[in-house]
Order: sequence, then structure tokens, then C-alpha cells
Amino acid sequence: MTGLSDFFNRPINYLRISVTDRCNLRCVYCMPPEGITLLSHGEILSYEEICLVARAASELGISKVRLTGGEPLVRAHLSSLIRMLARIEGIDDLSLTTNGVLLGRYARELKAAGLKRVNISLDSLRPQRFERITRMGKIENSLQGIEAARAAGLHPIKINMVVMRGVNDDEIADFARLTREKGWHVRFIEFMPIGEVKSQESRVESRESRGGGLQTPDSRLQTKEFVPISEIMERIESLGILEPHSLHGNGPARYFRLPRAEGTIGFISPVSEHFCFKCNRLRLTAEGKLRPCLLCDEEIDLREPLCRRASVDELKCLIEQATEAKPSGHRLEGGTTARKRAMCQIGG
Ligand code: 5AD
Ligand code: SF4
Repeated sequence: MTGLSDFFNRPINYLRISVTDRCNLRCVYCMPPEGITLLSHGEILSYEEICLVARAASELGISKVRLTGGEPLVRAHLSSLIRMLARIEGIDDLSLTTNGVLLGRYARELKAAGLKRVNISLDSLRPQRFERITRMGKIENSLQGIEAARAAGLHPIKINMVVMRGVNDDEIADFARLTREKGWHVRFIEFMPIGEVKSQESRVESRESRGGGLQTPDSRLQTKEFVPISEIMERIESLGILEPHSLHGNGPARYFRLPRAEGTIGFISPVSEHFCFKCNRLRLTAEGKLRPCLLCDEEIDLREPLCRRASVDELKCLIEQATEAKPSGHRLEGGTTARKRAMCQIGG
């Protein structure tokens, strides 16, 4: 097995696979309110096709795979895909990003199929606000899902909170406290402007004002709703000193711990601090496009070759091509971002 690395000598060992663009929620920062034009079942890759791509990728040196969506658990029989992926030699870390709603039903089955761990998106602990941010979610379902994942042994469970000023930033300390009270690993994520939700359609009633909601064109992003990680850290430090911690994921989070806390606190700052220089990933969309970068619209089509039953070697060439096409970094602060797809069509 050879290692895969890109034009800038970054090792590429991580593949995020979106298994569906559908979701059972409509989070304001991820989807436009009317939803998106959904792919039909015939347009998305079959589990066999996904596994062929994963096999080719693993032969090139990809060892970590994460399933994303939309919401991956809305796709039928996801545990059979997990079982197939878990058997591929060379893939030693198999994880899932989910909103947790369906984990109560599936956590044990997923674990038995070979899933190692889960990241769960949770942006508020307050039922009404949770429902507004997700435009339909019931927080009890997500909390039950978290508990089910814990009981099933899907460790470490990481909770992802996207922080938005005037929407949920007054809960930063509450989330940080949970690392002590419940031993959760909590990651704070800077809100990114991406796809169609940048427009003013993505309003959620803010906590202070009736009129002002989540409006996220680029110019406003950096001023009103955007909260830089530096500020989030400052607010948490009112609870105690944050000590650096060695927990590593596959990605760009930096981890810390509050005194006496079992759980860690992670920070992901795609906007304010570039971590592109250590980007290690490729993304596969549900309809079979390989994306070299989350925030650039370039894509390499794998669906057509898969439909004509291309060989694993041909797939490997295309994966190498996508790797070579990785840009050195994004231009978010300059207002440049992916426009073609909403986040739910890429998988975060
Ligand atoms: N900005 C930051 N994070 C986002 N996510 C989805 N959309 C955005 C956005 N616009 C996060 C979700 C989930 C992960 C897949 O990506 O919270 O945890
Ligand atoms: Fe669904 Fe996740 Fe997007 Fe929310 S952030 S709408 S849960 S895919």
C-alpha cells in the first residue's frame, strides 16, 4: 500500500462519504427552508458502488472513512453498508456524523455492524430553540440518541455545536459545562457560509430581536452572527483554564479540557484560522462526485465510470486525479465559497 499525498505534500488518508442528501431536519445553516431538490434513488450510488470506491481509496492509502449525509441514518439499511465497509482491508476507522434523531433506534445495530464512533450535531439544549434551529426537531429524540450511542459503546461520542451569535451563543458555557457534568466531548464550530443558505432565507428568530434573524451573506457573516473561536474560548475560560489535550480526531479540531472534566472541548475554526495546510481529506457526494475541497465547486465524476463497471485501477486513477486537484486552501474570508451545493448535499 502506498501513501496518497497531494500537490502540496499533504498526506490524504481520510474519505468522507455522503450516503444521501435527504435529512429528517432542516437546520437553518445547512438547508434552505424549502429544502433542496432531492436526488432520486436511481441517481445515488448503490452500497456496492460506494464500497468499490472505498476499496480503491483504501488501496491508495485511505484508512479513515466517515459516513455523512444529509442525515445518513435516513438511508435504508445503513448498517449493511457499514458491515461491507468494515470488511475492507486497510480501513481502520469507520465513523458517522448524524443529527442523532434515529440513533435511539439504530445505535446497537450500527455498533454490531462495525461502526466505531459517532459525531452528533446538537446546537441547542433548549427545546424550543432546538426546534427553531432545526425547523422541526424534537430535542428529546437527539438526547435519547446520544444516550443510545453511549450505551452501545460508540466511543468517543463527539457533540458538534455550530455557534451563531444571537441564535445560540448564550449556550456556549452550558455546552462546555457538559464536559464536566456528563463527560461529553463537545466541539464548537465556527459557522461557515456555504451554498444556498448564505441567503436571507435562512432566518431563525434570534433570541434578542424579533426582526433580526440569522442572515448570512458574506458581509454580515463576519459581523453579526459569526463568532470567532477566539471569542468562544474566552467565554469558556470564565469556567476555568483550558488545558491543551492530546485527543486527536481525523481533522482540524484542537482539543482542550477544563479542570476536573472527563470530556474534552474541541474548537474548529474554518473561517478565522486556516487549517487547510493540514487538510487530509476527500469527499464523495451521494451521487458519486469526488470533491477535492469542501469549499470549492470542482468535482470529479465517479458515477459514470461506476455505471460502466470501471475497474478498481481506473477508480484509483480518478481518486488520484481528485487528490491532485486539491487547492492549497479556501478563500472564505474573501467571500469566496462553494455555491453549487448546500451543506446537506456535501456532508460537512
Ligand atoms: N457551518 C458550520 N458547520 C456546519 N455544519 C453543517 N453546516 C454548517 C455550516 N454552515 C456542521 C454540522 C455537522 C457537520 C456535518 O457540519 O453541525 O455537525
Ligand atoms: Fe440535517 Fe445535519 Fe443539515 Fe441539520 S445540519 S439539516 S441535521 S444534514
